Amino acid sequence: MSVHAWIQAAPGVWKFAAGSPPEAAPLSVIGRRPLLEALEEMGNAAFPLEESRIRIHAGPKRSTAVFPLAEDERIYGFGLQFMKVNQRGRTRYLRVNSDPKQDTGETHAPVPFYVSSRGYGVLVNSSRIVTVCCGSVVRMDSGMEDRARDRNSDRGWKATPVSDTVEWVVPGEGIEIYVFSGPAVMDVVRRYNLFSGGGVLPPRWGLGFWHRVPKSFSAEETLAEALEFRKHEVPCDVIGLEPGWHSKSYPVTYEWNRRLFPDPAQFAARMEEAGFKVNLWEHPYVSPDAEIYRELKPLSGSHTVWHGLAPDYTLPEAREIYMTQHLKEHVSIGISGYKLDECDGSELTRNSWMFPAHAEFPSGLDGEQMRQIYGLLFQKMADDMYRLRNRRTYGLVRASNANASSLPSVLYSDLYDHRQFVRALCNASFSGLLWTPEVRKAKDAEEWVRRIQVVCFSPLAMINAWADGTKPWSFPEVEPIVRKYIRLRMRLMPYFYTAFARYKFEGVPPVRAMQLESNLRKKDSGGDELNSTELAYGRAVDLELDDQFMVGDSLLVAPLFAGESLREVYLPDGVWYGLETGERYEGGGRIRVEADLDIIPVFVRDGAILPLMPALAHAPRAGEQVPLELVHFGTAPGAYRLYDDDGETFAYENGEYEWRTAEVRIAGEGALEGTIQDSRDGFHATYGPITWKIGVTALPAEGRK
Ligand code: GAL
Repeated sequence: MSVHAWIQAAPGVWKFAAGSPPEAAPLSVIGRRPLLEALEEMGNAAFPLEESRIRIHAGPKRSTAVFPLAEDERIYGFGLQFMKVNQRGRTRYLRVNSDPKQDTGETHAPVPFYVSSRGYGVLVNSSRIVTVCCGSVVRMDSGMEDRARDRNSDRGWKATPVSDTVEWVVPGEGIEIYVFSGPAVMDVVRRYNLFSGGGVLPPRWGLGFWHRVPKSFSAEETLAEALEFRKHEVPCDVIGLEPGWHSKSYPVTYEWNRRLFPDPAQFAARMEEAGFKVNLWEHPYVSPDAEIYRELKPLSGSHTVWHGLAPDYTLPEAREIYMTQHLKEHVSIGISGYKLDECDGSELTRNSWMFPAHAEFPSGLDGEQMRQIYGLLFQKMADDMYRLRNRRTYGLVRASNANASSLPSVLYSDLYDHRQFVRALCNASFSGLLWTPEVRKAKDAEEWVRRIQVVCFSPLAMINAWADGTKPWSFPEVEPIVRKYIRLRMRLMPYFYTAFARYKFEGVPPVRAMQLESNLRKKDSGGDELNSTELAYGRAVDLELDDQFMVGDSLLVAPLFAGESLREVYLPDGVWYGLETGERYEGGGRIRVEADLDIIPVFVRDGAILPLMPALAHAPRAGEQVPLELVHFGTAPGAYRLYDDDGETFAYENGEYEWRTAEVRIAGEGALEGTIQDSRDGFHATYGPITWKIGVTALPAEGRK
């Protein structure tokens, strides 16, 4: 079958279905409506590929799709990949895996979606393990016979031959494919996120600092540890409880351990009073001692996990039971959200514990499908529960899949390689995922600082002390540095919050890979080439760029890893300043930076305006007002749009928000002058009074003792 009928699913998005693909797939599981208005605003675009070069076939056992691949094309995405940014030349086996140590494509969040450096994207909407030969195989009909090389004499011979196709393989009868147009790589990602319902907008407190206490802490111990943050003047918004809060765990009950938490409602109220939200760890497997066990049993799969139930949450009745219990026992007393652990099992991990691929579920799904979408089902239930209460949630999850952009969860892992963690920050941004390079422990103070610095610039800044009992001040000799960065995270809250609002409304990832920037090039790539998408994203920048990333539009973060004090950084075009050093750099190529332990190299664009608030102990609550300082960098005029809403509810979905444009212009005498639009009449603005600092080259000091 090669004559297609691509149906336009939204402006710049096309769909093609062949055969009868299974109904339970990420798009239907999440069931979000695309943000059509925002997609329309991006404008229509032509189908980005030569249709005749795409071949799709739905067979009885497997379905395939073959897409053309140009020689200079780079392929990004496939979810939370830890090993590489450019996925070309590899076969990706997109299976959920809780222990993804090898470069096979398996990961906590394998997403059957890629973005091409040529400015288009392809998604296969499937609950199956999808395999993608991503420029790793060559077809007989490719006409590439002349590319055969002689290994005896040719030193350029490569194990992976040059290929001209990306081939998708989906088990089962039927395939559903979406194509997203560009022209820029960022446009593709934006369309994907908007088509998925827009990015998530977390509550403001979600962007503060998080800390998880040891796994068997009592209410009193938890409260005491939380209050230590106040004593140390380290901001903290969320305290996470680990397995011990359940009356039984592995499998879990979702019921409070009354010995450790005699009065959960009072505990939650005391935490709230002290300015802390509480997040609960849980996993999917229900203990025979749980009250909901009996009801859930007939709605569960054929195999247990740790002798607990694996419920079939594609069934509305099962969802209802879980949600009713959670709403009553947790949400109603003020619990702010969940860490959804171990929904990423697979049988081939170090310790086998997951239900098998051949497990049967009452809905008709098998174990393979359930494992691929389990993470999505849990994220969706968390979102649904808090929507019912008109409260936003933000939490963690260890498994995800496609179209998850709008879901309020951030991925994490038991892996602990810091370089891989930074690479994952870059890669997650291609597929509508958020990732936190969590900090658990460190062999010394240097590693501790380097990890804390990075996590403070990530979508969720957290210490996960569940096993090690670490605290920000665990290495006293570097406590001031750690405090400085956690406080900086708090000062930057208005900046982060605005970056997430752009994720929500415009689909722009808040923390993202350099490959999504539009003005990357090598210094020497001349004039007009700059405007060519192909060159700007493709050949001109022959770089992997997996160890630096953007936060919002103005900050470029280039971490140093333990053992290093010097590194190269690729700076896009233009003038940049060292955020804390004030040093001036010409972009458009590589520079070298040296930094002591008390500095993570972060660069600010000339003309950028950063909105900063005081490093409060925790995020402002709805209705509170905080002073704002607008800090303009350098000598170029600039503009910035500041987002604001109540920070906690879904009122913004009904228009209860505002964008205010701040501008720095050249005034009469040639001096720079800053102005910001007034807040709309009747709107309760979070920021006020607003003051300006214009033409700085380094971040102003905090102004505290
Ligand atoms: C792991 C999880 C850790 C911690 C632990 C508690 O699966 O990744 O962060 O929560 O469980 O048992």
